[in-house]
Parts: sequence; C-alpha cells; structure tokens
Amino acid sequence: SSPHIVAIDGPAGSGKSSVSRAAARRIGFDYLDTGAAYRAFAWFVSDRGIDPENTDAVVAALPGFDYSIGIAPDEHFVRVGETDVTDAIRDPAVSAIVSTVARIPEVRAHLTELFRSIAASSHRTGIVIEGRDITTVVAPTAEIRILLTASEEARMARRSAEISTQSAETVAEQLRSRDRADSRVVEFMSAADGVTTVDSTHLDFEQTIDAVLDVINTYR
Ligand code: C5P
Repeated sequence: SSPHIVAIDGPAGSGKSSVSRAAARRIGFDYLDTGAAYRAFAWFVSDRGIDPENTDAVVAALPGFDYSIGIAPDEHFVRVGETDVTDAIRDPAVSAIVSTVARIPEVRAHLTELFRSIAASSHRTGIVIEGRDITTVVAPTAEIRILLTASEEARMARRSAEISTQSAETVAEQLRSRDRADSRVVEFMSAADGVTTVDSTHLDFEQTIDAVLDVINTYR
C-alpha cells in the first residue's frame, strides 16, 4: 500500500527542514526535503555554466538532471550524478539563483513528478515531504497538511544564527528577497483550506517538533 504522506510547507527560516526531519525520525517515517532538490537543480544549472535567467537553456537541461537524495531520516545526502552536493547546495551562490530556476513551470512540473515517485518508493509507513507547495500542489490530498510559520523577526534571527559567514543584515535581506520571489510563484505564507498552521514564533526547537507531532497524532 502507498505510504502515508505528511505535507509541510513554510517560508525560509521557519525551522521547517530540521523540524520535519526530527518529526519524521520520531515516528519512523522517511523524509524528503524538496528545497534541497530545487537547490540541487540550481547547482546543476550553474555547474553547467547555464545562465539561470535563460529559461530555454534551463528547461533544456532538465532531462540531464540526474538527482538522488537520501530519504531515510538519518541518511542525509544529496547527489547530482556522481557528485555529492549536500554542502554545496547550501552555498549563498546557490540560494541566490534558486528562486530564478524554481519559478519556471517546466522545472516545477518535472520536480513535482520526481517528488511523487520518490514518495511512492518509500518502504516505510509514511513520508514527511517538506517545501513550499507540498500542501497545495505536490500532495494536496495528503491526510496531514501543516503550514509551519514564524514571525519574520524570529525567522531572520534563526537563520542568521545558522550562518556565521555573513552579517545579520545581509542574511535578512537575502531571506526577504527569496521569500518575495518565491511568494510570486507559490502561496506559502498563509494556510490553504484544511491545512493546520503551527506557529513556532514562541516555541523552541523541541516544542515545535512536539507541536507538529501533536497535529500528526490527531490524524493517525
Ligand atoms: O526550503 P529551501 O529554502 O531550501 O528552498 C530553496 C528554494 O527552493 C526556495 O527558495 C524556492 O525557490 C524553492 N522551492 C520551491 N518549492 C518547494 C521547495 C523549494 O520552489 N516545494
């Protein structure tokens, strides 16, 4: 039978990735970080020397995008072809171009298909899929759909604590501009019908995991 799907969306810096991975581990589910896939594709485009603004060239590169990702919660890797890009996709240079390639409809359709087949290949009871359009596009019929939010202030503070190589203002400005660009393509700042909001502004990491697990347990 197909695995249960827990769909989690939210803006950058909401703690989504680490919270989703930890929640998946607690309940023995697989975990798919779709942002990592968009980042891997942006890395690939840049590695090929393709201008991210050149939509035709970016779309033409899609069939050659050979991507693999670990979905067991403890299996933390992303590869493009033979290259391990787990760390490289977190580079600010990748963050700077990811929204540009992610707004192309052909790219979204291609990756959405990829996410659905990865989810279907899960051998566990279920899989937590996390991103921007999981509750609305990738898995709109998932039994459990969560929007993980936090105030802009809290999100900026968390992200700049993670990134020590840039000033807090630089981090905040890059995050804001990425959220602005992404919001034009998919709606992830407010919950769609039937989606449960978890606001982590006043919660620490453990409390946020518990709040997400509470939502999951209401349905399980
Ligand atoms: O989650 P993360 O911040 O790593 O996502 C990186 C980028 O990937 C986002 O800024 C967005 O442009 C894109 N993305 C997307 N749809 C998703 C997940 C990520 O467009 N479901």
